[in-house]
Amino acid sequence: MADTFDRNAPIAVFDSGVGGISVLRALREVMPCEDFFYFGDSAYAPYGTKTTEEVRARVFELVDGFRDKGLKACVVACNTATSAAVRALRETYPEYTIVGIEPALKPAVMDRAGEMPNVIVMATPMTIRNEKFHNLMDRYVEMAHIIPLPCPGLMEFVERGETSGEALYDFISNLLAPFDRDRVDAVVLGCTHYPFVAETVRKVMGEKAVLYEGGPGTARETRRRLEAAGLLTDRTTVGKITIENSLSEEKVKICERLLEM
Ligand code: DGL
Repeated sequence: MADTFDRNAPIAVFDSGVGGISVLRALREVMPCEDFFYFGDSAYAPYGTKTTEEVRARVFELVDGFRDKGLKACVVACNTATSAAVRALRETYPEYTIVGIEPALKPAVMDRAGEMPNVIVMATPMTIRNEKFHNLMDRYVEMAHIIPLPCPGLMEFVERGETSGEALYDFISNLLAPFDRDRVDAVVLGCTHYPFVAETVRKVMGEKAVLYEGGPGTARETRRRLEAAGLLTDRTTVGKITIENSLSEEKVKICERLLEM
């Protein structure tokens, strides 16, 4: 039952590594009085090039731990983990507030309704391969030219804390080389690591394409779900953020820096 969780307990937020900080940033903005426990699973990263079964098993292990700790809700701040496990998680824990993230394709298309825009979706190979993404694409396929672009290797830059520089620019230029930047209307950053390289994507694409990320929508959805479950905090002071990482303290430092970006 939802009311077995304490409304003033922290909210768990996790990702395969440091990328979910882009979601935490949005959560903090929408719910400044909440406490958050951020867990980066860098020891198991990347998720996006593993099998769905491997990622699902790992995600269950983590979410079991969050529930045992009494964390009142869980935000899966990873598109890959969401596509691999969120449905199974909800079936297994119907009483637990679990919020996932998906590539922000809907706003990218709806902001240009009737225009048949060209929309690139950058994401991990697993996100793009999974049924959840195919269902999402099917909903908008008559309204836009959607180009899924798997980006293996890109999250590793952010994991290293490398959010600018020549190597990153070359990597992203190569990924986007097949596209005519004057004809691309929107680029969806469909992995929570990618908002931290948005500036470089912008440099490569020029000014025309609008960039979208899923964090703000996920944060608003989390607030709605907590409110519906009667689990919003009743504190009125600024909440605490605790960050842990399965690999190293160095990753925690990277998270702290990204949180202020
Ligand atoms: N940050 C994760 C996402 O949103 C993926 C990175 C990974 O491959 O682990 O999909």
